[in-house]
Amino acid sequence: MGQIDSFLFIFLCLLGYVELAKGGSGLACNWGMQSTHPLPPGIVVRLLKDNGFSKVKLFEADPGALKALGRSGIQVMVGIPNYMLASLASAVGNAEAWVQQNVSNYISNHGTYIRSVAVGNEPFLRDYKDQFVNTIFPALENIQAALVKAGLGKQVKATIPINADVYQTDSGLPSGGYFRPELQNLMMNIIKFLQDNGGFLTINIYPFLSMKADPSFPREYAFFNNTAKPVVDGSIVYTNVYDANFDTLISALEKNGFGHMPVVIGEVGWPTDGDASANVDNAKRFNQALLDRIVQGLGSPRRRTPPDVYIFSLIDEDHKSTLPGNFERHWGILKYDGGIKYPLDMGNGRAVVPAKGVKYLAKQWCVMSPSTGGVSDPNTLAQSITYACENGDCTSLGYGSSCGNLDSQSNASYAFNTYFQTMNQSKGACNFNNLAVITTVDPTKPPCRFEIMIDTRKQKKAASPPTVYRSSAAKIQRIFAALILGLVICGVH
Ligand SMILES: *[C@@H]1O[C@H](CO)[C@@H](O)[C@H](O)[C@H]1NC(C)=O
Ligand SMILES: *[C@@H]1O[C@H](CO)[C@@H](O)[C@H](O)[C@H]1NC(C)=O
Ligand SMILES: *[C@@H]1O[C@H](CO)[C@@H](O)[C@H](O)[C@H]1NC(C)=O
Ligand SMILES: *[C@@H]1O[C@H](CO)[C@@H](O)[C@H](O)[C@H]1NC(C)=O
Repeated sequence: MGQIDSFLFIFLCLLGYVELAKGGSGLACNWGMQSTHPLPPGIVVRLLKDNGFSKVKLFEADPGALKALGRSGIQVMVGIPNYMLASLASAVGNAEAWVQQNVSNYISNHGTYIRSVAVGNEPFLRDYKDQFVNTIFPALENIQAALVKAGLGKQVKATIPINADVYQTDSGLPSGGYFRPELQNLMMNIIKFLQDNGGFLTINIYPFLSMKADPSFPREYAFFNNTAKPVVDGSIVYTNVYDANFDTLISALEKNGFGHMPVVIGEVGWPTDGDASANVDNAKRFNQALLDRIVQGLGSPRRRTPPDVYIFSLIDEDHKSTLPGNFERHWGILKYDGGIKYPLDMGNGRAVVPAKGVKYLAKQWCVMSPSTGGVSDPNTLAQSITYACENGDCTSLGYGSSCGNLDSQSNASYAFNTYFQTMNQSKGACNFNNLAVITTVDPTKPPCRFEIMIDTRKQKKAASPPTVYRSSAAKIQRIFAALILGLVICGVH
């Protein structure tokens, strides 16, 4: 072996290990897009990379997102919304068309690293009243068949994200876990099918909702720290509901002979607003503890190998339904615009960073005119606020929220401004029977922020991701060659 060759081999060894190390330590999150003014996909992809996310889950096969993720190296789980289940269940041809357009197309034409398809989303949620019980399994079977037909059977896995209420325990202990009797047979069919096809089960866990549902819920149990009054389950001691909830599922699987079924946590997080216990302090405390566990590679007492954990969520979504509560629009670890909400250590001392290159509308706000003091009749004012809140986002107003302590004038201003911003600051959107005026003085009253909306029109022009994150196919091939060579040579040495 010549000198130059040895040098090259050592270099390749190092390169191989560097690439390996990068692949092993990634974070995962959900990227939801129910926003009136979504961040451009290119900016989001850069945001993901800047914060160390190597896996992302989409709730639908959004073309902009799937293209922007192309050649980013980020692994993608693509979701299928529940409303599509009936059609996908009815004919395998529909599933084939779906896979062709929404999976194969992006893998072949854009280099998007799609690794899994999430069929439906929490289809067994009690609120859905069994709407999807008959279609979810046939839809899964058809999508799986379509993936195989497309030649993707090995590289793309199918899964179903289920809500944690498909299982329960009467004793309150994880070891008592079992599937809801009315779902037992269906769950067995689904789990057996996923196992036979090398798929995995996906589970959403929400300590925030557990705490909200039960006023006597021990607070520290939600925050990974119930060391004072832990739950003792045989030889296992649980100091947090996250592990306990996960292990309740693992017990239910073990009881049915599926103790080795791979499980992924599809959603877990804590909102910052819209509820008395949804605030920055609690969200920071929960998400930091969660991130620390992920970075340390901690599993649960019953399953030591750590699952993939998709944090819910990356950014706030101002157009989500508030039926479950006002907190629904505030799950982001980052704001609607990718701005920082609170400091977070994303692993090894690396601080969370904001989105770069976001364009905003003009620096102006819509507020209640100071001169209207006594002039307006209360009905007109109330109707104006209601109208503004129906079309804008008022979920930060109200008890326990960040804008819950505003006086009635600022309260009205907040409502008027959110409407004005949502309407792209169009002139006619700041009138409200002459109750409102435009101002260039920021009316923000911490912790209540009067936001300015993203300018999605300007964004469109500059939306493509920076070239530094687009590695060419040739570069990927080189890295692979280096990796394989590195492993072979380093192994031989
Ligand atoms: C996926 O493909 C189907 C074709 O079957 C199409 O109708 C559907 O709208 C596509 N997009 C998404 C987001 O699922
Ligand atoms: C956990 O709770 C203990 C008291 O039981 C307290 O001393 C400690 O600071 C808490 N740790 C965190 C991270 O909250
Ligand atoms: C502020 O506006 C909200 C939304 O309409 C309303 O529910 C609340 O009562 C108002 N609060 C005050 C102090 O005016
Ligand atoms: C705001 O502007 C964007 C970009 O032009 C547009 O897509 C959106 O529909 C507008 N929203 C409203 C409420 O006019």
